[in-house]
Amino acid sequence: MKNRKVKVGIVGLGRLGYRHAENMAFRVPHCELLAVCSVVEEEVKEAQEKWGIPYGYTDYDKMLENRELEAIFIASPSRFHCEQIEKALEAGFHVFSEKPLGLYLEEVEKVEKAVSRHSDKVFMLGFMRRYDPSYAEVKRRIDSGEIGEPVLIRCYGLDPAGKLDSFLRFARDNYSGGLFLDMAIHDLDLARWYLQAEAEEVWAIGGSYAYREFAELGDAETGAAMVRFAGNRIGIFVAGRNCVHGYHIETEIIGTKGTLRIGTVPERNHVMLFNEKGAIKKCFEGFLERFEQAYLKEAEEFITCILENRKPSVSVRDGVESTRLGYACKESFETGRLVRIKS
Ligand code: NAI
Repeated sequence: MKNRKVKVGIVGLGRLGYRHAENMAFRVPHCELLAVCSVVEEEVKEAQEKWGIPYGYTDYDKMLENRELEAIFIASPSRFHCEQIEKALEAGFHVFSEKPLGLYLEEVEKVEKAVSRHSDKVFMLGFMRRYDPSYAEVKRRIDSGEIGEPVLIRCYGLDPAGKLDSFLRFARDNYSGGLFLDMAIHDLDLARWYLQAEAEEVWAIGGSYAYREFAELGDAETGAAMVRFAGNRIGIFVAGRNCVHGYHIETEIIGTKGTLRIGTVPERNHVMLFNEKGAIKKCFEGFLERFEQAYLKEAEEFITCILENRKPSVSVRDGVESTRLGYACKESFETGRLVRIKS
């Protein structure tokens, strides 16, 4: 057990998959990255040569035939998650999947059944914010009663304007679920986690203000959703893709006896420049920088769960419920109506 290593194959070597792969190759204890897979052959070759990975695939099904592997790590585009999760489970592997669990209710409900059928396998979903030190500390402090009963959560999830061009190029060919299912999904999960309540109704609005292209894609550049959770608890979610100062992830939880906040100013370090423009701090540029530790910790937890034969706290149910809420936000945004959520 002390020297045992879990042999992992990863699918998807893009913006996030590359980082996950690098973490598993070098930084996650008791983990051996044995195989990499992507439809882009150059990505596979580069990873193999750079990190000395023995197996490379451009066909996911072929990777699943490799019986040396024990676990599959999915970081492909969201529309493939459910199908790839189910195939990996059926082939006898432990599975980690990036968020969101899926893009449609039917597919997430189907994949939940597949996870139940394979209850001897570890399944984990990439809601990495739960493993970020600040978000984890806030959870502990809420649970210890420090702010009394949590009654309201306010979340900002804003992507940097600097990455907008590359996002628009990507979005034209890859349906990601839209602003609420793709971006706000982390906040929707955190709200359920912190409030310990499910959503009952939602009203969402949004638009395209600086970039008309989002409207052409049927999506919003900036949007907001107001959600009533069970017990009349309140959720306010702001999501956007045109944040000019950088990557801004901010969360506030108001309780009956106090308030906790995370990331009010998304400062990347302790440096401040004083000049004729004033006192200036640089902000985070993107998710890889802000959640560097969280991506590492979630992968460590996945591997540890396999070694200790236990289940992670992020379950497939969290994936189903967050997708249900994200989908209701999308429906409300598209129809302009208040949407009641059936559980
Ligand atoms: P990306 O487009 O940069 O990379 C996708 C990768 O998957 C590429 O290597 C591509 O060649 C490969 N691929 C595409 N179709 C494939 C197929 N059928 N079989 C095998 N490989 C295939 O995407 P990105 O930004 O890395 O996102 C990947 C996933 O991670 C998405 O589901 C996204 O929602 C999620 N994500 C999660 C974040 C988080 O904070 N937890 C942040 C960014 C992305």
